[in-house]
Amino acid sequence: RMLKRQMECRRDIDRLNAPFLAIYESLVPPEEEKAKQKQLLSLLEKLVNKEWPQARLYLYGSCANSFGVLKSDIDVCLAIQNADINKSEVLLKLADILQSDNLQNVQALTRARVPIVKLMDPVTGISCDICINNVLAVVNTKLLWDYAQIDVRLRQLAFIVKHWAKSRGVNETYHGTLSSYAYVLMCIHFLQQRRPAILPCLQEMEATYSVAVDDIQCAYFDQVEKLRGFGSRNKETIAQLVWAFFNYWAYRHDYANAVISIRTGSIISKREKDWTRRIGNDRHLICIEDPFEISHDLGRVVDKYSIKVLREEFERAADIMQYDPNPCVTLFEPY
Ligand code: CTP
Ligand code: MG
Repeated sequence: RMLKRQMECRRDIDRLNAPFLAIYESLVPPEEEKAKQKQLLSLLEKLVNKEWPQARLYLYGSCANSFGVLKSDIDVCLAIQNADINKSEVLLKLADILQSDNLQNVQALTRARVPIVKLMDPVTGISCDICINNVLAVVNTKLLWDYAQIDVRLRQLAFIVKHWAKSRGVNETYHGTLSSYAYVLMCIHFLQQRRPAILPCLQEMEATYSVAVDDIQCAYFDQVEKLRGFGSRNKETIAQLVWAFFNYWAYRHDYANAVISIRTGSIISKREKDWTRRIGNDRHLICIEDPFEISHDLGRVVDKYSIKVLREEFERAADIMQYDPNPCVTLFEPY
């Protein structure tokens, strides 16, 4: 009976559509934010090209994948061809250049897992992280952006899930919870699994876009304007999807055996990936396959303590969606 109850959506669920859409609208950044980002990017490009004329700058992460909320920092990738560059040296040199051009809080973090230079631009008020030659991140940013063009419910769901995760403190990889990138992959996978499907699996379709990054071939169907309306046979509303998303991660996901994979548009087994035991620090307690770097489990940051926190938060969210009179408030209460 309990299981049955957990699978039945509350009767008044559609009453929640308007308030969820209002939350989504309130998080979408205004157009002028884009202009400010462009302005900062061209300033950075000018400074960088004085020192490295061949180098190019790319935006990646939430400022370019369409899942960025109001007032996000921007992520920039500096692409330099030269094969034998020393990343630390480039970062230190870059920090020097930026510092002498009045950019503020300039800091080179050369020992981080992804080494970066941080800065704040006093003119636009935007903070920015610059990394070097992280081309895979630029490519997966495009993949996420392309998925977002297919059905607006992806962007709506992901904004609400990210907002929930930030409010509840489960969007902190250094505390063993998941990155924003991981949450967006969870949303894409979830919408690929609905019946009828709301999203297709772009990597299983004929490749119209293909790039090689080191030894990884990244290929998928990127003519997404042809896929608008793909999910229109599925009439689920945003409130139903938020309910079902949390219900899935609280009560339906097979944590012991399953790996979610947007690359295949399906669930694959941990055994198949050899993710059944702990190797080093990778525990594979919740498994989310990266779409291109397929040996990379986005859940590897999760440990035996944080998995409990995470699952309790999914259950809390699912129960609120089922029983709480006012989920649009309770869901996002600070922890
Ligand atoms: N990324 C990645 N592999 C990871 C984590 C991140 O390739 N394990 C890349 C992705 O391109 C991602 C970007 O780094 O889009 C930024 O990651 P993250 O900060 O998690 O996501 P954002 O979309 O920038 O979210 P936020 O709005 O929270 O900044
Ligand atoms: Mg970011």
